[in-house]
Amino acid sequence: MSVAENLRPSGAAEASVLIDGATYDLPIRKGTIGPDVIDINSLYQDTGCFTYDPGFTSTASCESKITFIDGDEGILLYRGYPIDQLAEYGSFVETCYLLLYGELPTREQYKAFDSRIVKHTMVHEQMTRFYTGFRRDAHPMAVMVGVVGALSAFYHDSIDIKDPEQRDIASIRMIAKMPTIAAMAYKYSIGQPFVYPRNELTYSANFLHMCFAVPCEEYKVDPVLARAMDRIFILHADHEQNASTSTVRLAGSSGANPFACISAGIACLWGPAHGGANEAALMMLQQIGSVDRIPEFIKRAKDKSDPFRLMGFGHRVYKNYDPRAKIMQKTCHEVLDAVGLGNDPILQVALELERIALSDDYFIQKKLYPNIDFYSGITLKALGFPTDMFTVLFAIARTVGWIAQWKEMIEDPMHRIGRPRQLYTGATERAYVATEAR
Ligand code: SDX
Repeated sequence: MSVAENLRPSGAAEASVLIDGATYDLPIRKGTIGPDVIDINSLYQDTGCFTYDPGFTSTASCESKITFIDGDEGILLYRGYPIDQLAEYGSFVETCYLLLYGELPTREQYKAFDSRIVKHTMVHEQMTRFYTGFRRDAHPMAVMVGVVGALSAFYHDSIDIKDPEQRDIASIRMIAKMPTIAAMAYKYSIGQPFVYPRNELTYSANFLHMCFAVPCEEYKVDPVLARAMDRIFILHADHEQNASTSTVRLAGSSGANPFACISAGIACLWGPAHGGANEAALMMLQQIGSVDRIPEFIKRAKDKSDPFRLMGFGHRVYKNYDPRAKIMQKTCHEVLDAVGLGNDPILQVALELERIALSDDYFIQKKLYPNIDFYSGITLKALGFPTDMFTVLFAIARTVGWIAQWKEMIEDPMHRIGRPRQLYTGATERAYVATEAR
């Protein structure tokens, strides 16, 4: 079989597939930027063959206008705007508007959107009962999967996902309530009372207040830390068709309500190869402990017989520096300086590990660079969060990406239930054998 690109008389590009002497022409579709795609919609019907791509390394699962990544150039765009400009000049709520509706908001649009989010930050008082069903030492991601999924029970009968109005209110509710649900998970884990949202605080300041305030005294949020939290949320907001976003799209393709889909996304994000890497990266840095032990771990990372990997390094798409990691490193320094941990030994280990890895042929040849998770763990620890809350913070930020991608899919008139096929290598048909004859 060979695939050749040629031009149809109409000038449209197409690929030709040669199977057992027969040629099949497949249209090539071009995006505004990024790789072209070979449209294989008719392949099985025409040839009786499937394509085979288990990790989806060469497969576009959908058409999207939301986020674009150029892994070789280290570029990340949200609706065309570079991530470094949004992180530098924008806010997370503004980024939510951009991801959901496609354009940066005017002043009036921003005020109206922000006010809608503020008005939905509380959760039904009955939801507090869910928390008491968990052990205090339950991993907060397990709590998030359960409590967010339970939102379906509070809103399921009022969500007709075919109604744009109700899709919009579900989106606002999800973005608004995730910080509250996350802060409640944290408070429950440390045995402190829940703190209600404060409408006069900004989104990120409100989250920090709900996590760190106690009823006995006034808690003033440090504006430097609130700004850092907001920037961390912007960096994590969306990232094309990553594992958890693909999970949300696949769950949503069956018509499941958005709360259940987001709960599925949270479950997928929990994995250490995905959103759990920030927790794993900090634990790795703590395990290394000091700069003189770095060579031992670099050696292990290269040893094929050793399952150890440098957590926070490598990426399926970025084969250059993850643009978010650069901004994360800058934020890390700002936060450590603000809390007086500028000389934190863990940061010294991270900086030296990065320096050594980036000059090591193994990592250069395999194009393994620090990703967003390499510095986020150190930063979140300095903000006062325990390691098991790191992926929860990732989930708060990524909720707007999941919801924007879910909305885009539902609003695509061509969308249908996702149902991949397989390469079957199991037993061929055989007759049942009675127990005594086995
Ligand atoms: C996120 O998809 C997204 O966009 C995700 C994300 C998002 O915003 O949604 O960006 C968030 O998940 C970032 C990634 C966080 N994960 C980690 O930091 C965990 C450590 N990284 C690896 O597990 C790995 O790099 C992945 C999972 C991120 C990518 O895996 P791939 O693309 O399947 O690459 P691979 O596992 O096939 O690795 C290619 C080679 C292998 O060697 P060979 O088999 O070719 O000899 O590189 C090696 C791997 O052994 N390798 C590493 C390594 N990562 C890959 N070796 C040592 N340390 C590592 N971290």
